[in-house]
Amino acid sequence: MLTQADNEIVTRTGPGTPMGELFRRFWQPVLLSSDLPDNDGDPQRIKVLGENLVAYRDTNGDVGVMNFYCPHRRAGMFFGRNEECGLRCVYHGWKFDKDGNCTDMPSEPAESNFKGKVKITAYPAKEAGTVVWIYMGPKELQPELPQFEWCTVPEGHVVVTRWLQQSNYLQAMEGEIDTSHVSFNHRWFDLDPAPATIAILNRMAGDGSPRLTVRENDSGFIYGSRRDYDNQYYWRCTQLMVPMYSLIPGNQWPRGGRGWVPVDDETNMVFQYASNPDRPLTEEEIHLRKTQSPQNLHKVKHTLSDGYVIDTWIPERTPQNDYNIDREMQRTTNYVGIPSTREQDMAMTDSMGAIADRTKEHLGTSDTAIIAGRQLLLKLARDLQEGQEPYAAQHPEVFAVRAINIVDPEPDFDNLLKKHGDMGKVNA
Ligand code: FES
Ligand SMILES: [Fe+2]
Repeated sequence: MLTQADNEIVTRTGPGTPMGELFRRFWQPVLLSSDLPDNDGDPQRIKVLGENLVAYRDTNGDVGVMNFYCPHRRAGMFFGRNEECGLRCVYHGWKFDKDGNCTDMPSEPAESNFKGKVKITAYPAKEAGTVVWIYMGPKELQPELPQFEWCTVPEGHVVVTRWLQQSNYLQAMEGEIDTSHVSFNHRWFDLDPAPATIAILNRMAGDGSPRLTVRENDSGFIYGSRRDYDNQYYWRCTQLMVPMYSLIPGNQWPRGGRGWVPVDDETNMVFQYASNPDRPLTEEEIHLRKTQSPQNLHKVKHTLSDGYVIDTWIPERTPQNDYNIDREMQRTTNYVGIPSTREQDMAMTDSMGAIADRTKEHLGTSDTAIIAGRQLLLKLARDLQEGQEPYAAQHPEVFAVRAINIVDPEPDFDNLLKKHGDMGKVNA
């Protein structure tokens, strides 16, 4: 559990909050590059860390991300004309470039110098790993992009999907470092023959109380979960990278994890990435990841609780339709009655309420990594309040790590890391 005060600190990421400040030291993924397919194409509304923004691809193909509200009289820049390397407000014609400069102000006399005095808040944007990233922190601290493996593989080796989830980022992200739920929440009954992915889940179901060990590293921590398996141990070693990225163990490529970007304090945007360093992904591998988990992602306009509308992706199964839970399936086929893994997770983390009340939890030994994750984020946020910058933000190379998935007789995590630690690094 957490105190109410700590729960507030760790979940609130709006401007000026301690966790919001920490997040703003890191680049944030905000869109798929394919959400902005054309130069001078349609702008997209997004919300990131509680800030209402508009993204567009300009005449040169560069991405601009600016405040939603025109600094003249606050009309929505989303409705603007995307033309000649800038977005022009269609109320009185003021135009802004991707750096936030006002490049035209036709409603003022030609001799006026007012244009030089007005700017719109704009954030630096870059593209990597088929994703648009923005940096919302202090200019002088702007780092290079993090060197996640999925961002550095050649073109065609990575697939990323994004979708909106209806909860605070933290409880969604905590599902990634909660290995014990996999033995239950993702369990299937008596599938014969079991597909490869389900065989792994069933291997985990064989030992529902894994032993967890957490070891901090430069990007966050790696934790080992040890399950009894076949007179040896099945070790799943997950990477948590600050502030909110995971790498999930898997025994074959493509593999990856997820990042949970706060939209506001009650919703988050998931970026799910999978890559293969050795070869391009096949059509089938890409199709599978775009359609199966979650199922039937589609583009919508979504109204947030404050009335702001964003252009986003959502799955077919949502809290509004109870994720189409099938009680007969629950009795006969799988533990939850929902047929895809992502939605099984979502039903649990969304149902905790917009911001989980962590003062009322009862955490056990299987929650060791969750406790460590919260403490790490709280410490980094507090350190930053006292002037200590987060190391990982300024060291993009620390993100070049991998999860480890292995069956081994070694019972001790530190010894396992000595033996197989190289598997946790991206090969140079
Ligand atoms: S409100 Fe945008 S130009 Fe007037
Ligand atoms: Fe899960």
